[in-house]
Amino acid sequence: MSKSTKYVAKVADARGHIAYTPEEDVVWADLYAAQEENVQRYMAQDYLDGLARLDVPKTSVPSCAAISERLLDLTGWRVQPVPALIGFKTFFSMLADRVFPAASFIRSREDFDYIEEPDIFHEIFGHTPLLSDPRFAAFSQAIGKAGVKAGAKDYSWLIRLYWFSIEFGLRRQNGQIKALGSGLASSPTELVYAVESDIPDRDPFDVLTILRTPYRIDMHQMGYFVLNSPEDLFEAADRDLLADVRQAQALGLLPNKFPEKVTAAE
Ligand SMILES: [Fe+2]
Repeated sequence: MSKSTKYVAKVADARGHIAYTPEEDVVWADLYAAQEENVQRYMAQDYLDGLARLDVPKTSVPSCAAISERLLDLTGWRVQPVPALIGFKTFFSMLADRVFPAASFIRSREDFDYIEEPDIFHEIFGHTPLLSDPRFAAFSQAIGKAGVKAGAKDYSWLIRLYWFSIEFGLRRQNGQIKALGSGLASSPTELVYAVESDIPDRDPFDVLTILRTPYRIDMHQMGYFVLNSPEDLFEAADRDLLADVRQAQALGLLPNKFPEKVTAAE
C-alpha cells in the first residue's frame, strides 16, 4: 500500500449517503462502458454471475448502502466506506467481520486505465460480484480471520494470497484462461494483458509459492496464478494459513521478476 495519496476520501452523511458530482458519475459511467464488453469476454463466469446478481448501476456511482442491502441477503457481507488507505490490521479485522472496506473516492481521468490505490470503481465493480458468491465470500473471510491471528510481521506475507487470488487471480474455465480478480475487472488495460499478453508468467495456483512471490502495486503484474478450479481456492480457506506463512518465511521470497524501480534524482 502506498504511503501517500492525491485523493481525498468522500465522507458519508448521517444516512450513509455519499454525494458524487455529475463529473464523477460520468467517470463511473465511462469506466463501466469501457469494461462492459471486456468483462464479458475475459472475466470468469463466477464474476459475471455476481455482477448480474447485484445489478450494479451503470450510469452513476452506486451507494454502498444499496449494494450492502443486496450483499447482506446473499452472503451476510456489507460494504463500508473508508479513507483511501487503511492499515493491514484494520483491513484483516474488517474482512473477518464480513465488512468490506471500500475507498470512497473515484479515480480522475488521468488514472482511467489503472490506478495504484483502490477507488470506488475497483471496490464495487471489481470486488462485490465475488462477495455475492458464498464460496468466495467465505474465502475472503478466512483470510481476514488468519490476519486477525497473525502478527504484524506476517501481514505482508499473508496479503499475497489475497493479492494473487481475489485481486489478480486467474482461473481455467472450459479449457480457457479467464480472470477472477477485482484488480483485473476494474482495469481496462490489465484485464486484457492478464489474459492475452505473452509477457506475464501464468503459473499453477499454489499457496506456498504465492506467499513467497513479490508483487508491485504500481504496474501490471509480471506473473499470475491460475486456479484449475475455484475449489482449490475454497480448500485453501481450510488450511492453517499462518503455518503456511511461517513456512514461506523460512523458505524466503522467490526472485523478484519486476524491473528495478526508477527513483527520481534527489
Ligand atoms: Fe482490491
